[in-house]
Amino acid sequence: MSEALANLLNETRQFPPPAELAAHANVTIDAYAEAEADRLAFWAKQADRLAWSKKWDEVLDWSNPPFAKWFVGGQLNVAYNCLDRHVEAGLGDKVAIHWEGEPGDTRTITYAELHELTCRAANALTDLGVTAGDRVAIYLPMIPEAAVAMLACARVGAAHSVVFGGFSADSLSNRIQDASAKVVITADGGYRRGKPSALKPTVDEAVASCPSVEHVLVVRRTGEDVAWSDKDHWWHETVETASAEHTAQPFDSEHPLFILYTSGTTARPKGILHTTGGYLTQASYTTHAVFDLKPETDVYWCTADIGWVTGHSYIVYGPLSNGATQVMYEGTPDTPHKGRFWEIVDKYKVSILYTAPTLIRTMMKWGEDIPAGFDLSSLRLLGSVGEPINPEAWIWYRQHVGRGELPVVDTWWQTETGAIMISPLPGVTAAKPGSAMTPLPGIVADVVDDQGQSVPNGGGGYLVLREPWPSMLRTIWGDDDRFIETYWSRFQGMYFAGDGAKKDDDGHIWLLGRVDDVMLVSGHNISTTEVESALVSHPSVAEAAVVGATDPTTGQAIVAFAIPRGSTDISGDAGEQLIADLRNHVSKTLGPIAKPRQIMLVPELPKTRSGKIMRRLLRDVAENRSLGDVTTLQDSSVMDLISSGMSGAK
Ligand code: WT7
Repeated sequence: MSEALANLLNETRQFPPPAELAAHANVTIDAYAEAEADRLAFWAKQADRLAWSKKWDEVLDWSNPPFAKWFVGGQLNVAYNCLDRHVEAGLGDKVAIHWEGEPGDTRTITYAELHELTCRAANALTDLGVTAGDRVAIYLPMIPEAAVAMLACARVGAAHSVVFGGFSADSLSNRIQDASAKVVITADGGYRRGKPSALKPTVDEAVASCPSVEHVLVVRRTGEDVAWSDKDHWWHETVETASAEHTAQPFDSEHPLFILYTSGTTARPKGILHTTGGYLTQASYTTHAVFDLKPETDVYWCTADIGWVTGHSYIVYGPLSNGATQVMYEGTPDTPHKGRFWEIVDKYKVSILYTAPTLIRTMMKWGEDIPAGFDLSSLRLLGSVGEPINPEAWIWYRQHVGRGELPVVDTWWQTETGAIMISPLPGVTAAKPGSAMTPLPGIVADVVDDQGQSVPNGGGGYLVLREPWPSMLRTIWGDDDRFIETYWSRFQGMYFAGDGAKKDDDGHIWLLGRVDDVMLVSGHNISTTEVESALVSHPSVAEAAVVGATDPTTGQAIVAFAIPRGSTDISGDAGEQLIADLRNHVSKTLGPIAKPRQIMLVPELPKTRSGKIMRRLLRDVAENRSLGDVTTLQDSSVMDLISSGMSGAK
């Protein structure tokens, strides 16, 4: 960035926590002062929330930055912490997972049952030759076996590498090869949009180019026919017949727990390595603090897929280490109808809901009548993750899902950070819609300019983390140089997150999107996020994506793609009129510098499989280029819709 980000958006609404929640919150305002007084003592206290087989000698070894060691010399077993200790505490009959399959089949799994399944799976993995330090790839739909497989790996000390079930054979093969996985755990298929969707053929194709793979363990989910080879074993014949007795061995605090490849919209995927003690400490603490989770009474639901880090930290390790009761859902939000999510909230009396802005905006597009048709009175806290949430989407979420009274926690973090880093505390923070607010206790984040100088309040620049944190990535698997180069070279002694951010006049942090997405218009750096939020604040717009396109006069010009809300008429002149209104609306909201040169009304936006908008492809459209690589798109037909709509929308 040649100049700090222009600070355009002026959102001033603020929502203090409900008094009742604040009065009984797990974490109070004192936590900030406590962590500030002694950050390492603060994290040691959070580590003490876990069961350690051997206490650590040193909280943090930062003698060889950026390679951190947390809770040095300590030993623990992650699966023991998520399962055995709850069963030993007499909570075996408590429901761990209310699972809902897409076709409507259900399973209720208690902690004792989850423990037993995990022990059997651990024995089965051991029988297949998996030992501590090995890698196991997991390519499963959202079925309980996905959690069991991860916990079984953790139990025997094998690092899992979960690959999202939507990835192609090539992507799967690259990830298996990069980690030299010995075993792959998969299923015949899962259910998606009302139909069985096969997984095993993709694994067969991938494994053909993966000499490291000795065995493939296959869960039967759909019952469809599958090809079979010598390497294949049915889960129900292997795991379910294995012994239910298994004693968890403790592992070193820095023992690898998992590798997770980042979705990376451009470069070769990076295998992000997380280890045992520090990761579990922070995943567990943040679940307790940010969601105010009360394991005795709450029903928690995170709608992410286990293939993303959100599923790792906030479906498996965070909630289970806290002994939570949670919902796990296999399918899509509109199968068999657009109210499916709210039906699930209603059915299981979900009290804490954690979802993504892309989903909230989709729900906005479908209209508030849909959530209004269900009883959502069990909800008491709402969370958001994955992208900046536009203020209007935040308000809609609070209004139409949260009865206009529930706290919304906008949580900023990354695959690399392992756990939530910047977020309101629900019992403390008066949240502003669209802002992730403040770093959590024990986290030192800042916004810096080109030179790495902290910007004053009101300024914009790059988000950095100034101090190591327990759940930080330890390296990129097999590539320490790339780890240093990607995250620790931009600014001396700081972790570079790759996100643009600003501090408002109160010092609260607003995330402005990936720095690659920032536009340079007539010498001003303008954030795509702010222009998108301005568009979404118009009553006729459900969702928007903004890119900078080369322009002979302004350097880059703002080109916007907007999805109209459900009932909006955009035929003929009405469409032209709306476009004119929207351009003026942005200009009024953010200033004339941010007025889009061009706005196209489109039915859909191109998204990655994790729900992030692929602005790179929209830039191709805006600059009339042929499209780049579309293989990571969630739905590749979207680009045809947009390209064909272009001619009419000009
Ligand atoms: C990137 C990390 C964190 C788990 C899911 C995504 C963006 C994430 C927020 C938020 C603004 C956010 C950032 C970040 N992001 N949460 N609350 N506000 N931006 O993990 O795939 O590693 O993506 O997602 O750009 O760098 P990921």
